[in-house]
Amino acid sequence: MQEKINQYIAEIEAYSTKVADEIEQFRIKWAGRKGILNDLFEEFKQVPNDQKKVLGQEMNRLKTAVQAKLDDLIASTASAGSDNAEKEDMTRPTGAYAPGTRHPLSTVRREILEIFERIGFTVADGPEIEDDWHVFSGLNFPPEHPARDMQDTFFIEKNPDMVLRTHTSSVQVRMMETQKPPLRIVMPGRVFRNEAISSRAHCQFHQIEGLYIDEGVSFADMKQTLLYFAQEFFGKAKIRLRPSYFPFTEPSAEMDVYWGLNSEADYRITKGTGWLEILGCGMVDPNVLSASGIDPEKYSGFAFGMGIERITMLRYQIDDLRMYFENDVRFLRQFDRMV
Ligand code: PHE
Repeated sequence: MQEKINQYIAEIEAYSTKVADEIEQFRIKWAGRKGILNDLFEEFKQVPNDQKKVLGQEMNRLKTAVQAKLDDLIASTASAGSDNAEKEDMTRPTGAYAPGTRHPLSTVRREILEIFERIGFTVADGPEIEDDWHVFSGLNFPPEHPARDMQDTFFIEKNPDMVLRTHTSSVQVRMMETQKPPLRIVMPGRVFRNEAISSRAHCQFHQIEGLYIDEGVSFADMKQTLLYFAQEFFGKAKIRLRPSYFPFTEPSAEMDVYWGLNSEADYRITKGTGWLEILGCGMVDPNVLSASGIDPEKYSGFAFGMGIERITMLRYQIDDLRMYFENDVRFLRQFDRMV
């Protein structure tokens, strides 16, 4: 047996390969369940007791030799590259990689913000989960105003004073509370309304709010700013302001742009009038200014708010809102070249 062990050790020490399959074979041959080491241990059981001590040490020497060789072989393939790795060309170019595309809502939001940034507005945002003060009370909503109704507003169950904001006008209040005029800010964000009356309706959409406060700001300033926006964004030269109502602006208006009636589609989207409603606006109500700590005797200003989905639908002539929320890449990829 001693002789056999010596031969084995010589054989093991002489062995060499870099091929992964052969290393595995070597392992099975020596250390596998039916391998030589196990056979030898079976044989060892028959050895007379007085020889066991010496032979046991020899058996361990053999076992250690197998393990050391295995470690060596594995280490050398890892550093030199195995047979398999040699077949891979690591410098080969990868296949075509399809990059993501910008979501049309993001593109339009960016464009709108940039137009206002060009005329001195900065961009700010505020929380989507808001308290009643910033969404309603600070904006001059009377306690019984229907916009606070359960139908429209998502309330936070554990704290009915907290809601999901129903408009970005809440950010106006935060800005007026924390900054001193002059203020020129645009505020994009997601808003929530509990209006899932049909499968086409959605409980969330996006708005961009605008706020301009300084000494002596007039309705004419508002009109000129909004005209500039309409011209830059839509390339349309004509707007009109129709009287409207919001609790936080006085007077309030809705702005339409003249879209024209040059095609069948123009008739359809403008319902035959040529005009399209784009946003709500108005002079900030003095109550709102003083509620946020701005002196209405000294300062005045205007605010406006528009829905990004609606404007995006007009820009790309896609009239099914669901498309914007499903994130189907087949839809999104069509905007690849439009950014
Ligand atoms: N917050 C209003 C809305 O969601 C829009 C608006 C903003 C109107 C600012 C006037 C001034 O409908």
